[in-house]
Amino acid sequence: MKKPVITLDGPAGAGKSTVARLVAQRLGLRHLDTGAMYRAITWKAQKRGLRDPAAIADMAAQTVLIVEPERVTCDGVDVTRAIREPQVTAAIRVVADSPACRAQLVRMQREIGKEGGLVTEGRDQGSVVFPDAEFKFYIDASVDVRARRRHQEQGGDLDEIRRSIEKRDTEDRSRPVGALVKPPGAIVLDTSGLTLDEVVARILAAVGSP
Ligand code: DC
Repeated sequence: MKKPVITLDGPAGAGKSTVARLVAQRLGLRHLDTGAMYRAITWKAQKRGLRDPAAIADMAAQTVLIVEPERVTCDGVDVTRAIREPQVTAAIRVVADSPACRAQLVRMQREIGKEGGLVTEGRDQGSVVFPDAEFKFYIDASVDVRARRRHQEQGGDLDEIRRSIEKRDTEDRSRPVGALVKPPGAIVLDTSGLTLDEVVARILAAVGSP
């Protein structure tokens, strides 16, 4: 029997990555962080000084990305840390807003998911990339809760973190292709008042695994 595809979409800082990793571990499925793919392509475009989305899409078509839970490589170079740098986050729009770049990443993601057995997280996984996924979730939390969680993890100025989350929400929700939406049929989980274990337990219950 084909193993399921489970999609987790939601805004920045809602805790998708940790939740997706734990759910995948518990179910013995692979985990894919699609945000890491957008980051790695942005990183490589910056290295090459490319700004034109069409040129970046061509570059993406020639790129070998390996996204594992603990390690991301781009053409064999370990970029696990580099892709989390603020200058990468600040420039992601060029890639994420471009339909041509998105088409390349969607193609790679479908290739990774074609055999099933995947917990995949991002913004468009249930809406665009895997509309026929067996289980879809939309993981949400208030801006305040997301900002406070980020602040606890990384330190820094709380107001600045809140502003940057709000800015990314606006960008993620307004792009013409691949915008963040609640996918039709998705189970919505507001994690604002829930612990990590509670979120994981609800997902496991919803997919029928105790
Ligand atoms: O999940 P993250 O914060 O690492 O994602 C970084 C950015 O990549 C996010 O702000 C928008 C983009 N992204 C996207 O457009 N579609 C996805 N499926 C995943 C990420």
